[in-house]
Amino acid sequence: MTLGIIGGTGLYDLGTQDWEEVTTDTPFGPVTAWVGEIGGRQAVFLPRHGRDHSLPPHLVNYRGNLSALQALGCDRLIATNAVGGLDPSLPVGALCLAVQFLDFTCVRPRTLYEPDAAVQHVDMTEPYCPELRETLRQAGEALGLGPLREVVYVCTEGPRFETAAEIQMFGRLGGQVVGMTGVPEVVFAREAGICYASLCLITNPGAGLVPDHKLTGGEVTELMEQRKGDLLQVLEEMARRLCDDTTCACGARS
Ligand code: HPA
Repeated sequence: MTLGIIGGTGLYDLGTQDWEEVTTDTPFGPVTAWVGEIGGRQAVFLPRHGRDHSLPPHLVNYRGNLSALQALGCDRLIATNAVGGLDPSLPVGALCLAVQFLDFTCVRPRTLYEPDAAVQHVDMTEPYCPELRETLRQAGEALGLGPLREVVYVCTEGPRFETAAEIQMFGRLGGQVVGMTGVPEVVFAREAGICYASLCLITNPGAGLVPDHKLTGGEVTELMEQRKGDLLQVLEEMARRLCDDTTCACGARS
């Protein structure tokens, strides 16, 4: 079993020097990742925005990243995601776990199967792996970082933040957190038959929820960097707790 870790904003390395840099050629271009070990498990780390955060959410090579992680043998993926909070009961600083998503992206590739594969429609009723999510929850709560609540993740195209009206709309539609990178990553993981979970950290209240507050990218990055140690601890603890066998249906595509 190989665990893939997709680092979001603020998570550009796993804090150790002894990971080996590997570049994989994919049908979507070359992708660089780092191979090493975490919590006694073979692992691959891929910073979604690049090590220097040079890629904005709408320009991330989501298909290349998933293809590379698959080629490197990853059968489980954990992503970290910075998110804005839509639900007042979820405070800034809370860790949570995506359980469903609402997709408001518009210009990203829609499928990993292009360009040559036959048309396929994957089931997306339960987009995130319930077993990985539960292991993450237990790991976070054992570390005293809980409760890790399950949330509906709204994905916007970005890179701009939302209007106050959009935030109100997302809340009314049942969204609880909003981010820019969870989709199509989760979709491609399912298309590849790989278990996927998203560990979200609420970095700010959604735009307009706090009167006169102007949201900045710096605010998001700062909070993620402050909490990098916690994210690393959860990832390591969850890697330790992973079972080799799974009973989930993530790999059953038809
Ligand atoms: N909106 C979209 N993406 C985000 C936010 C937000 O408020 N915070 C962190 N990523």
